[in-house]
Amino acid sequence: MERKDQIFDDEQTSGSNTSIWMLKTPVKSFNTLSRPMETDVLIVGGGVAGLMTAYELLTNGKRVILVEDGEIGSGETHRTSAHLTYSLDTQYSDLESRFGEEEAKLIGDAHKTAIDWIEELVKREKIACHFKRVDGFLFPHPTDKEDVIEKEFEVTNRFGFETSIHEIIPGFLKGNNKRCLLFPQQAQFNILLFLLALADIVEQKGGQIFTRSKAKKFTENSVEVNGFTVNAKHIVLATNTPIAGPLITHTKQWPYRTYAIAAEIPKGSVEYALWWDTGDQDAPWVQKPYHYVRIEEGDGDVDYLIVGGEDYKTGQEDRENIPAEIRYKNLEMWAKDHFPNISGIAAKWSGQVINTVDGCGFIGKNPGSETTYIITGDSGNGITNAAIGAQLITDLILGKENKWAEVFDPSRSVFKHAPGDYLKEVGNMIRQYTDWLMPGDQKTIEELKPGEGAVLREGLKKIAVFRDEQDKLHICSAVCPHLGAIVQWNADEKTFDCPAHGSRFSALGKVINGPSNGDLGEKDE
Ligand SMILES: Cc1cc2nc3c(=O)[nH]c(=O)nc-3n(C[C@H](O)[C@H](O)[C@H](O)COP(=O)(O)OP(=O)(O)OC[C@H]3O[C@@H](n4cnc5c(N)ncnc54)[C@H](O)[C@@H]3O)c2cc1C
Ligand code: FES
Repeated sequence: MERKDQIFDDEQTSGSNTSIWMLKTPVKSFNTLSRPMETDVLIVGGGVAGLMTAYELLTNGKRVILVEDGEIGSGETHRTSAHLTYSLDTQYSDLESRFGEEEAKLIGDAHKTAIDWIEELVKREKIACHFKRVDGFLFPHPTDKEDVIEKEFEVTNRFGFETSIHEIIPGFLKGNNKRCLLFPQQAQFNILLFLLALADIVEQKGGQIFTRSKAKKFTENSVEVNGFTVNAKHIVLATNTPIAGPLITHTKQWPYRTYAIAAEIPKGSVEYALWWDTGDQDAPWVQKPYHYVRIEEGDGDVDYLIVGGEDYKTGQEDRENIPAEIRYKNLEMWAKDHFPNISGIAAKWSGQVINTVDGCGFIGKNPGSETTYIITGDSGNGITNAAIGAQLITDLILGKENKWAEVFDPSRSVFKHAPGDYLKEVGNMIRQYTDWLMPGDQKTIEELKPGEGAVLREGLKKIAVFRDEQDKLHICSAVCPHLGAIVQWNADEKTFDCPAHGSRFSALGKVINGPSNGDLGEKDE
């Protein structure tokens, strides 16, 4: 496994670990934007949401410019596990109690349609990306209620999703004696093969893509990119979490870190399928961490078993006091318990997902704007959320009606749907500001080893300190430029992570995840 102990290249990736996709397929560069420009639609973000939206807009005759401040796929997209499913992070019984039957079914239908949309796109454009239809199996976590599967079966069946109950979990080599719910005709693919091919297709269709091109200073019809003005009739923020617009969106969705491993397994020893448990109900977080599992084609006689889980709220690792190496070990042990034939671990990495309080993504006009649109609130279903976003945003820009517009509307009240969870998450965010009063990490600057970072107190100030491999110290303010919370050192990915709304910064203080659009030490715009 490749592990970068040095400072990672923050234009290639959003952390020091490398995902299985990136290990096999490097991310891709295009030209850098270096002159003023004008277009129908400016898309900010070169992940799966930005590129799918660019494709759909171009197909519908719009002129598109896409700018990405790193490389194509260098955000959270290359950290995914790429299950394509309508078995959502929030179970349908919960969605129904929050939204009512009609809207809960509409959300499920949107994700189901998104899988079909991706399949058609792959076929139409002949993209070689290991796309496969596979079965998906939801099984109970040991901490969950006994009737969880029956309840989910009743709701999904009433919604017409053709689910069925199995008495054992197909595919598991051990520990399979649990009832589970089959979601038929789900899918999987290799995300980077898909994304890089899609970027080329977007260019062939006349879209202009610029990488290493950072968007700043947003107005209703213009954005500054690398210091040049880009005028656009419409702006799409496909930046995973919005980097412009009102704070309110950041009180309706919350960032969680999630961990993944890719273990080597003899080729063909396990049928392709997707598996999830229903989540650890004893975990202290509003969004309960669950295991997500699938197989990916490997080279020679090896496939990869991808196992993810162990989530916690970004920047709040200390609440459970479980370091990253234990989280990876837990995933490995879980994998061995169910697939004893795994051998080496080919890759391990973590990433960030943005969970909405009511369980449905936010896609549509950025609240308060008539010309800026957002695609966010991905949860563990961000790829289908992005495909819904591509279709819905295109319809909104074309002035067409879309049946998903109201339920995915970013201006909707999540308080109405999930008041308890809303208050818990807002309370948690407010508590993060007490870090201003805390002493800081135990270490002193002198005790920091090469490759280590820490947040330290210096008089009344808090500083983010990193000692690089050449023994050089890098010191920034530890105050997040977004709204002033104190960042935390993430020793595994070598980043400073903000516990309030999930902004992340490289060891040198450069912003790598929003909502902040400024570096540590800079004032946010
Ligand atoms: C471990 C893990 C497992 C997951 N598993 C699944 C799964 O099985 N199924 C599923 O559907 N989803 C899954 N997800 C979620 C899914 O991968 C993400 O939701 C999705 O990839 C996000 O895509 P995106 O385009 O919204 O964001 P990103 O890929 O993060 O793209 C946003 C881009 O915007 C760029 N950007 C930000 N600010 C600026 C700026 N100012 N100027 C220019 N560019 C900017 C960033 O550099 C970035 O590249 C998983 C996520 C993780 C981390
Ligand atoms: S992300 Fe909002 S204060 Fe840091």
